[in-house]
This record gives sequence, C-alpha cells and structure tokens, in this order.
Amino acid sequence: MLGNTFGRLFRVTACGESYGCTQDANGERYGGALAVICDGVPAGMELSRDEIQAELDRRRPGTSPVDSPRLETDQCEIFSGIFEGKTTGAPVGILIRNVDTEDIHIQQYRAVKDVIRPGHAEYTYRAKYDEYADWCGAGRASGRETCVRVAAGALAKKILARDGIEVIGYVKELHGIKMRDGMSFDEIRANRDKNDIRCPDLEAAERMVQRALEVKEQGDTVGGIVELLARNVPPGLGEPVFDKLDATLAHALLSIPAVKGVEFGDGFGLALKKGSEANDIPYLDGDVIRFRTNHSGGIDGGISNGETIVVRMVVKPTSTISIDQDSVNMATLEPTVLSAITRRDAQICGRAVPVGEAMMAITLLDHLMMWKGYDAVSKVQHKLPWRPAGS
Ligand SMILES: Cc1cc2nc3c(=O)[nH]c(=O)nc-3n(C[C@H](O)[C@H](O)[C@H](O)COP(=O)(O)O)c2cc1C
Repeated sequence: MLGNTFGRLFRVTACGESYGCTQDANGERYGGALAVICDGVPAGMELSRDEIQAELDRRRPGTSPVDSPRLETDQCEIFSGIFEGKTTGAPVGILIRNVDTEDIHIQQYRAVKDVIRPGHAEYTYRAKYDEYADWCGAGRASGRETCVRVAAGALAKKILARDGIEVIGYVKELHGIKMRDGMSFDEIRANRDKNDIRCPDLEAAERMVQRALEVKEQGDTVGGIVELLARNVPPGLGEPVFDKLDATLAHALLSIPAVKGVEFGDGFGLALKKGSEANDIPYLDGDVIRFRTNHSGGIDGGISNGETIVVRMVVKPTSTISIDQDSVNMATLEPTVLSAITRRDAQICGRAVPVGEAMMAITLLDHLMMWKGYDAVSKVQHKLPWRPAGS
C-alpha cells in the first residue's frame, strides 16, 4: 500500500487499522494501535500530551446520540520527539491504542468479511489486495484511521499559531438544513463546538440534530457540508504550478474518507456568475492591498492572497446503514443480502470537522515551510558562536 505519507517538509506518516488485532498460529498478538510520525517539528516547543488529546476528544465517537456507539477513548501516547517537556526537533511519534475490540465485534465482521458493503471499500480493497487486506471494521479504509491525522493536525495548528495562523471548521449544512449566512469568524469559533453536530448556528444545529435522530430511527444516514476557514495566512503560500495551494489542499481534504467534493470560495457557484460579479476588487487599506470580496476563497493563481482561505468539503452519507441491502459475496461470487448493521454513525459530518481542520493545518504548515524555509518557521535560536576557520 502506497500513499501513507503526506507533505514535503512537514511530513506526516500514518499507520494503523480499525481494530487491527489478530493472533498468529503461536497465539502471538499483532496490531491493535494506530500511529503517526510527524517529521519537521521545530525544536524547543513546549508540548504536552493534553494538547493533542484535546483535539482527539473532538473527533472520537460514542459521545453523543448522533454518533456511533462504538466506544473509543482515543487516548494518545507521545513516544518520541519530546524531552523534558519540549520538542527536540526529532520526529514526534504519537500512538493511539484501539480499545472496544472485543471478540464479539471481530466475530461480527468475520461473518460478513466476503460481502461487499455498498458505498464502502470492501470490493476495491479485495480487487487490489486480494484476501490479504484487513477486513475487520474496514481495516485501513475505516474512518478510525483519521484519528492520527487529528493528532498530527494538533501539532501543525500549534506551530501555525506562532505565526498567528488559525484554522477552524464547522458543519455548514446537513441533509439540506443550512446554517445562516453572515456569521463572523469569532462568532463561529465561539459557537461551533457547542453542540453534537458542530454547527455554530445553534438554532440550525438543533434542527440538524433532530434530522440526524430521525434518519437514525429509520436505520438510515445523511451527509452534509463542512466549511473550513484559515485566518491570517500571509500572501505567498503555494507553489505553482503542480503544488498550488488550492491543489494541495484539495489533495489533503479529498484523502479524508467519505469526502467526495471540495470547493474554494464561491466554488461551483462561480458557474452562474459573470466576471464582473466574480472578480474580487483590490483596494488600499493604508499601504496594504486587500480585496473587497472573497469569491476566490483567498487563493489566486494557486497562491494565498492574504484574505481568509475558505474551502468546503462534501461529506457523503455514512455508507453503513441499518437497512438490508442487496450485495455480492466475493468468495462465492453469488448474490446475497447484507443484513442491517447496528453500530454506525447516522452522520459523520461533525466528526469530520476536526479531521478537515487537521488536514488543512498540515497543508498550510507544509507550504509555510516550503515558502519561508524550514529554519525561518522553526524559529530555533542558534546560540553557539561560530567563525570561519582561520578568521
Ligand atoms: C471521522 C470519520 C468517521 C467515519 N465513520 C464511518 C462509519 O462509522 N461507518 C461508515 O460506513 N463509514 C465511516 N466513515 C467513512 C468511510 O471510512 C468511507 O466512506 C470509506 O472508507 C469509503 O471511502 P470513500 O467514501 O471515501 O469512497 C467515516 C469517515 C470519517 C472521516
């Protein structure tokens, strides 16, 4: 399997499966954890486990009726890169053990391991990796893989904050229920974590929760739209032409399971506008160039223009549903029916919010390092005196 490392200078390498617990013929146990190695972390930063844990707690399920009942405590351990409370400049390694992996759940997955779950990844993983892919809880294709992205994102956010850059995300729309327009960045930030759906418009959030509970009752699921904002990004991030900022952000966000579309600024809405309506008009704010509108989402020519970066991602309805579905058994090549599955999320938009924020923060930090140089971003003071030999 290729593709488990993301980034050029701030590089994140992830591993781990949904349950990942097996025994070999000698009874030796394997797996049972997810991990991430973050390379490019500056030296000398104070970093505690609690800071990473706070972000992980925003993603984990089992905390509300609109989430999956799967109990995952997602407690992280930092196993490298920190010495006496500060980062050393070495890769920071973070480990999260899988709990809630009792045999009963594993047996349930074993019973349907050859049956394609519509909308999920069983067929494509089998087509590519044969029967060797881990089938338990979707293995590497499980949303569970995203918890280590959130851990790495917590680090990236902390490093970006030293340059005043802030990333926030929230649910903008759930199954057609929209939050109101015109909320300010500060209002959104203050309210977005106040409810189970992570929608900052508290009235719309109530209707969203209600909708999620209704569809859950029907055994079904819904999707929605998560919006991400990055404030105080200076003009200059992005490497034309293949590593444009919007291109790499799209790569980062589309790598999140269940994300099927991404748009910047007015996005697909631009198809309905004229040039005179779509252009962002520049003006002088003292000696600083600003733009009166932000139809482009803060990126022109693949480079940040100094306005807030605005990007939205579509999160599809959770594919696991509690309704019988026609399917195919991949071992026998016979038609079959996949029975209702009970442990599932009625919606995953709220849980996708911290994942989207994490991928956006990782991408922006990587670009900041590519543009300014790793040393400039790491801000390490080199105190030892040095003179050229012979001087
Ligand atoms: C935070 C998070 C949690 C998820 N939880 C579930 C889940 O409980 N059930 C499910 O069917 N899919 C879940 N997914 C989505 C699947 O992992 C995803 O649909 C699957 O890997 C197929 O990939 P695709 O939808 O990107 O094509 C989750 C995704 C995220 C981001």
